[in-house]
Amino acid sequence: MGKTILDYDTVRLDDANDQIVIIDQTKLPGKIELIELKTAEEIWNAIYLLQVRGAPAIGVTAGFGLYLLAKQIKAESFDAFYAEFKKQKEYLDSSRPTAVNLSWALRRMDAVAQANKEKPIPEILKLLHDEAVAIQEEDIRVCRAIGEHGLTLVKPGDGILTHCNAGQLATSKYGTATAPIYLGEEKGYHFKVFCDETRPLLQGARLTSFELHSAGVDTTLICDNMSASVMRQGWVNAVFVGCDRVAANGDTANKIGTSVVAAVAARYNVPLYICAPTSTIDMECPTGEQIRIEQRKPEEVTEMWYKERMAPEGVKVYNPAFDVTDHELIAGIVTEYGVARAPYTESLKGIFRKKAEEEKNA
Ligand code: MRU
Repeated sequence: MGKTILDYDTVRLDDANDQIVIIDQTKLPGKIELIELKTAEEIWNAIYLLQVRGAPAIGVTAGFGLYLLAKQIKAESFDAFYAEFKKQKEYLDSSRPTAVNLSWALRRMDAVAQANKEKPIPEILKLLHDEAVAIQEEDIRVCRAIGEHGLTLVKPGDGILTHCNAGQLATSKYGTATAPIYLGEEKGYHFKVFCDETRPLLQGARLTSFELHSAGVDTTLICDNMSASVMRQGWVNAVFVGCDRVAANGDTANKIGTSVVAAVAARYNVPLYICAPTSTIDMECPTGEQIRIEQRKPEEVTEMWYKERMAPEGVKVYNPAFDVTDHELIAGIVTEYGVARAPYTESLKGIFRKKAEEEKNA
């Protein structure tokens, strides 16, 4: 098989040339174009415009970005260095509000800078580099572990429905919601996967069906309003989706339309699983009520992708990028430390206890 989209890095640090190289996801699937990000504005725009997107990939980009921007700081003292570092961190943090991995990765970088303030700046830069690389390496390990746990929830030949793109293009490898599918493919499980097209930005059509189809997975693309039809016919055994932020009670923000799929899945007794690295679980956020939902431009709904505008001029548009799925509709939250089940307020604490134990013993 020739080179496919899966052979490209979603996000790559090119340290020698002081740049991040990403696949411009706004051009997929028509064109695989790699773009270079060097300045704070280029990195901010790439995240805002969804050239790089998906919670884990945004976190990785932010880590690399803050390291590269730190390298550009000219300062004699730590205080002068840190004042500029903090400014850049806050700027990157403002690019997208819902995916918690963005602030999570930036906070990790910040903690490294602060914990090493006594060291010379070149040494701090080396530690920032190592932290950013660690964030990416962890992403790969975590996604694989999510895949292994997710695979225990399905059986060979099952139909799986997914929404938006929580695939390799949203992470460094495997994806989260697609990890059980890729791992199952390695074992010859031959899942039948339904991808919601995911209006208005079509991540399901442009990205998920592209990467799964390229990997040889049995992939069927459906419009967002067809999930009830395929579930009613008994073609779907499980729904796997990703997430941008999971609250402490299990309420989950993910791409707009996920809560519709969850309601439909509940109607047809299909279990819906949220695939969530612990980096996406925000224990500081009590419920979905407190999750800030990004609102995006009306043009994404009225004219983007169409040859001509498909809505009357001046019509009101509501365009939230994400919605919250109530924890009651979630059959399980698949993390790298196992599957959390209701009541999530308790089980998610258990996941973090397990994480702390494993980190202590590592
Ligand atoms: O707006 P996007 O494309 O960044 O939205 C992405 C999603 O909703 C994904 O499901 C989520 O970030 C998880 S990616 C592993």
